Amino acid sequence: MSNGAHEIIFRPGLEGVPVTHSAICDIDGLNGHLSYRGYSIEDLAAHSTFLETAYLLIWGELPTEEQLHDFEAEVQRHRRVSFRVRDMMKCFPATGHPMDALQSSAASLGLFYSRRAIDRPKYVYDAVIRLIAKIPTMVAAFQLIRKGQDPIQPRDDLAYSANFLYMLTEREPDPIAARIFDRCLILHAEHSLNASTFSARVTASTLTDPYAVVASAVGTLAGPLHGGANEDVLAMLEEISSPDQAAAYLKKAVENKQKIMGFGHREYRVKDPRASILQGLAEEMFARFGRDDMYDVATALEREASSLLAVKGIYPNVDFYSGLVYRKLGIPRDLFTPVFAISRVAGWLAHWREQLGANRIFRPSQIYTGKVTRAWCPVEERTLEMDA
Ligand code: CMC
Repeated sequence: MSNGAHEIIFRPGLEGVPVTHSAICDIDGLNGHLSYRGYSIEDLAAHSTFLETAYLLIWGELPTEEQLHDFEAEVQRHRRVSFRVRDMMKCFPATGHPMDALQSSAASLGLFYSRRAIDRPKYVYDAVIRLIAKIPTMVAAFQLIRKGQDPIQPRDDLAYSANFLYMLTEREPDPIAARIFDRCLILHAEHSLNASTFSARVTASTLTDPYAVVASAVGTLAGPLHGGANEDVLAMLEEISSPDQAAAYLKKAVENKQKIMGFGHREYRVKDPRASILQGLAEEMFARFGRDDMYDVATALEREASSLLAVKGIYPNVDFYSGLVYRKLGIPRDLFTPVFAISRVAGWLAHWREQLGANRIFRPSQIYTGKVTRAWCPVEERTLEMDA
């Protein structure tokens, strides 16, 4: 389409359209490679911790021992949330989705910490610490509140991931389970310009406060085409119910042009490397804590899909195996996406900082398809036919 001097190319969903320069995360979707700040996801998942990875993403380099110690200590100091936030959460309907509760409570932090100070390094540092520290506490608090209980306080003797599982389940987790959960958080921490991160950058570009940036990203992550898919995967596996039903289910779904949840990705033409690592983590969980029959359904579905969907470049994505790990960890299904948010806040904050470093407000254009040059008509003369 021509627009005078230059040609406009419209790409629905902005597919393949770069909207920023970024040094945070690199995806090689043809070969299935993913790296954060140049470190492969395999190395990070094997050797790092979530907090160390968050530090890497947000500040650009791996921390020294002292920097890591200080970062962990600061996060630990800010885990508690104000009784006012907890009281507010008690007014939320218990039947509401935990992602809505998280979006509201994340936004409410902006009421407590002064805004428009984003040019002050101390404000930026404190906001990073507060968001990483408090989001898990708010997710766990809503879980207990909706069961009619009071939230329990964080435990200072427990590391980040173990403490979250403790606040959620009221039991100190097995150290292996806590480490597997921590590795899940590393895998979900960042993934370039996915919808929620784009949303975070658009919001950041207005120079609003970081709590609004994160709240807008949480709202975007909630959708079933994005973070919400991990909930739907388990529902689908339960509907299929046994490995020998997988082929028939898949055939019917493909015939009906129905999407298989946990499959497909705009960036990957091979299996998502995070799905491969998560599959390994699921197997570790089952070896230690007992099998989940749905895992056999999942592997049967993946096997069947290797002929029906792989031809179109559609393979399991990060959401396909994560729910099986979370279920074994005792995490309720509707908390899978909030758990994704606990992790992805690291990536959102990295992009918030990067956006502020070279900011220009996002203001894309559109191709107008509406009516033009219409004559004004007084209300008493209007008829329904006029709208036709
Ligand atoms: N099952 C069956 N067919 C699919 C699937 C799927 N999961 N995903 C894509 N396709 C087909 C789609 O029907 C279309 O076929 P055709 O060209 O014949 O009409 C083609 O592949 C392109 O699909 P698209 O929806 O235009 O691709 P997209 O890049 O816009 O969407 C996606 C990517 C992730 C939204 C999509 O693959 C999808 O809806 N997957 C299921 C939901 C899901 O698992 N989401 C989690 C994504 S990964 C984590 C995250 O981002 O949070």
